[in-house]
Amino acid sequence: MAFSLFKKSEKKEESHSGPHYYALKVKNIVHETKDAISIVFEQPVSGKIAYRSGQFLTLIVPIQGKDVRRAYSLCSSPFVDSDLVVSVKRVDNGLMSNWLPDNLKAGSTLKVMEPMGQFTTDYQKERKRHLIMFAGGSGITPMMSLIKSLLTQEPDSIVSLIYCNRNIESIIFKEELTRLETKYEGRLHVIQVLDEAPMNWQGYSGLLNHEMLTKLFERIPNWGMEKSTYLMCGPEGMMKNVETLLDQHHIPKENIFKESFVSPTIAKEQKKETTPAAENKAREVTIRYDGHEYKVLVQPNRAILETALDAGIDLPYSCQSGLCTACRGKALSGKVKLDEEEGLSQSERDEGYVLTCVGHPLTDDVVIEIG
Ligand SMILES: Cc1cc2nc3c(=O)[nH]c(=O)nc-3n(C[C@H](O)[C@H](O)[C@H](O)COP(=O)(O)OP(=O)(O)OC[C@H]3O[C@@H](n4cnc5c(N)ncnc54)[C@H](O)[C@@H]3O)c2cc1C
Ligand code: FES
Repeated sequence: MAFSLFKKSEKKEESHSGPHYYALKVKNIVHETKDAISIVFEQPVSGKIAYRSGQFLTLIVPIQGKDVRRAYSLCSSPFVDSDLVVSVKRVDNGLMSNWLPDNLKAGSTLKVMEPMGQFTTDYQKERKRHLIMFAGGSGITPMMSLIKSLLTQEPDSIVSLIYCNRNIESIIFKEELTRLETKYEGRLHVIQVLDEAPMNWQGYSGLLNHEMLTKLFERIPNWGMEKSTYLMCGPEGMMKNVETLLDQHHIPKENIFKESFVSPTIAKEQKKETTPAAENKAREVTIRYDGHEYKVLVQPNRAILETALDAGIDLPYSCQSGLCTACRGKALSGKVKLDEEEGLSQSERDEGYVLTCVGHPLTDDVVIEIG
């Protein structure tokens, strides 16, 4: 579930037109660890792609005869890096996360959708704040971008990063973090926690529990722990654990923000478990997109987007988890139930916006306009 670090009043209004697509040239592939690569994209000559730290790119790759889409957080900072960079960690049996390191070469061109996502913040030179981050594995990617931007854009703000990994070999950006810690001494504190630590390990190891977190909190600057901002990104289990621990440390929920890397595969499985009885009827939905009108029969347990894609309708989408709003449309009539609402602001929901990837029709008169 994505949370915005923007206060509601300062949240930028997104344009209501459909997403933009780009063909980006791969400048370089960096082998970060045994199972993680960074893909460095050249900015297009036609004009730089603007983005905010913490946002993600959607990569669209034809694999096994089908266009597969996956979201990858940008680890580059728009203030520091001239190129766009995403890092991809292999997932066991994962389609895209294995295809990319096995097939992508410098010079290749990839289709991507414009940067999206709400796990982001603005920066103000005079602001003084403490961001406390928890990252697990590939969850370091949006943090890297946020760290670089904060350190350069807010000279009085500081960051503490608690970074959990299986072992020393799997730490992505190990050297870069050390370099940044030295360069911004006293403003960036990195604490590494490993599941399996080698004999000479100077950091922490073992399960992140209440006792360990108390010790870790003693090692980072205390600017008022309840007033600090907490960010987390990593495996679902780790994030649930950290949320529980922060609750035990009386950290107010409104100061905690998280980014989920839930894959479409996982999201689909979760959706099946949570489908309410009210949706137990196939219903026709009218979709208006790009000057066309389509009618699809949405079966119980199936989302509107999924049904439309299966019918060959080329609708915009990315995460398929209710996180990125790429599939957003406005319900002109009828009622739509969303499995996941966090991607939309309250005002968007009040205006009738829905996310087709997690949307199920509750009435027979649903008409959705996209774009
Ligand atoms: C907003 C957002 C940002 C993301 N940023 C990054 C990023 O910066 N770097 C990165 O490496 N990934 C990132 N991801 C995850 C990425 O989009 C893919 O989901 C991931 O690479 C797996 O895709 P796949 O096609 O290889 O796996 P799939 O073929 O979709 O899944 C194959 C199997 O792996 C399991 N699985 C899928 N994803 C995960 C996971 N994340 N952890 C554990 N098991 C999983 C599935 O249950 C399934 O059994 C992000 C996801 C989102 C929603
Ligand atoms: S595809 Fe991302 S919210 Fe629907």
